[in-house]
Amino acid sequence: MPGYTQPLSELLAQHKPGYGLPQAFYTSAEVFAEDMETIFYRDWLYAFPACSLEKAGSYQRLRIGAYDVVVVRDNQGNIRAFHNSCRHRGSVICTSSQGRVAKLTCPYHQWTYGLDGKLVWARDMGADFDPSQHSLKPVHCRVVSGLVYICLAADAPDFEEFASTVTPYLGVHDLSDAKVAFQSTIIENGNWKLVWENNRECYHCAGNHPDLCRTYPEDPSITGVSPDGTFPEKVENHFNRLEGAGAPSRFKMAQDGQFRVARMPLLDGAESYTLDGKIAVQKRLGQVPFLDAGTLLLFHYPTTWNHFLTDHSITFRVTPISPMETEVQTTWLVHKDAVEGVDYDLKNLTTVWEHTNDEDRRVVEHNQQGICSPAYEPGPYSTLHEDGVIQFVNWYLDRMRTRQPGLAIAAE
Ligand code: FES
Ligand SMILES: [Fe+2]
Repeated sequence: MPGYTQPLSELLAQHKPGYGLPQAFYTSAEVFAEDMETIFYRDWLYAFPACSLEKAGSYQRLRIGAYDVVVVRDNQGNIRAFHNSCRHRGSVICTSSQGRVAKLTCPYHQWTYGLDGKLVWARDMGADFDPSQHSLKPVHCRVVSGLVYICLAADAPDFEEFASTVTPYLGVHDLSDAKVAFQSTIIENGNWKLVWENNRECYHCAGNHPDLCRTYPEDPSITGVSPDGTFPEKVENHFNRLEGAGAPSRFKMAQDGQFRVARMPLLDGAESYTLDGKIAVQKRLGQVPFLDAGTLLLFHYPTTWNHFLTDHSITFRVTPISPMETEVQTTWLVHKDAVEGVDYDLKNLTTVWEHTNDEDRRVVEHNQQGICSPAYEPGPYSTLHEDGVIQFVNWYLDRMRTRQPGLAIAAE
């Protein structure tokens, strides 16, 4: 595996604005470790839709770098997150990736914790033992409009700007009435930043996504970030039509560029991501006022992009595994009362994004393979088609520069 011998500060200084990153950012174990420490261990991370935890005691386990986290629904219906490490001798407590339990019992010596993380049983620990000092360590956990986020940092960064911005947009999608219709988990043999760069442009769509291109416009004003804040008249008319009917739609971006939300039109007449462009689910999830309302696009770096449609919603989660391996988990959400085979056909619901994910996996892997060559030299981004990529890379570099202790490199 290619390594790097330069300090990160020098690598950061090598980046030429408007160009791709130097090779080490996509290949080296040291940069990967810095990415985890600086970004994934400190920022808010998307976990999964809250409806994945159906009942009290339902849990899911998450692996983020060295961390092992369990997210569980407690007896009051709240969602909580804990480090999956026993306060006795450190064993993992939940050994399955998901399940349902009455209490969290360690498999080693059966110390038992309530769903609130409090230690409720530990055998023969002596009169001086204080259970209250041995609760599971909590992980920050927030639910915004049916989407669960966690943060591993001791002091979590602000979540309010994100929560207050996206809540009105997500309100019409009623994610609290959702259920998981299907979930896919794939590994892409590429650095997590290549997964994101690929996601943030549609320059590659016409050549790679025949199914998606039936309904999703490759127009860069849809995928990109509108650096001057303006949109084509067609998009402005779409915003006005939807907002007039009570569905917040207008493009909004975080001050620091970490998230963006906008309801964008699909190609003329298209309603959803299906091969015929019609809705996939007859019992619709949400109350979006028109079938041709497009897709509510939401990204939140570094872990999630989403499509909230008029009939169903799709969430994506990005988890780095190693310098050149990234997990992408896709979850299709439908109304909880929608019946497979009656209200929707699962293949019709999932085909376009199953194909698109596989096509994206392939281009990301090809991208990674070429970058691994000693002949790789960062090339220029198209300012017309790849302003979203430039925006992502600038967000990443800004995080790395401002959060590295002792690094005092002026931002571009
Ligand atoms: S390590 Fe968990 S009970 Fe001993
Ligand atoms: Fe793609």
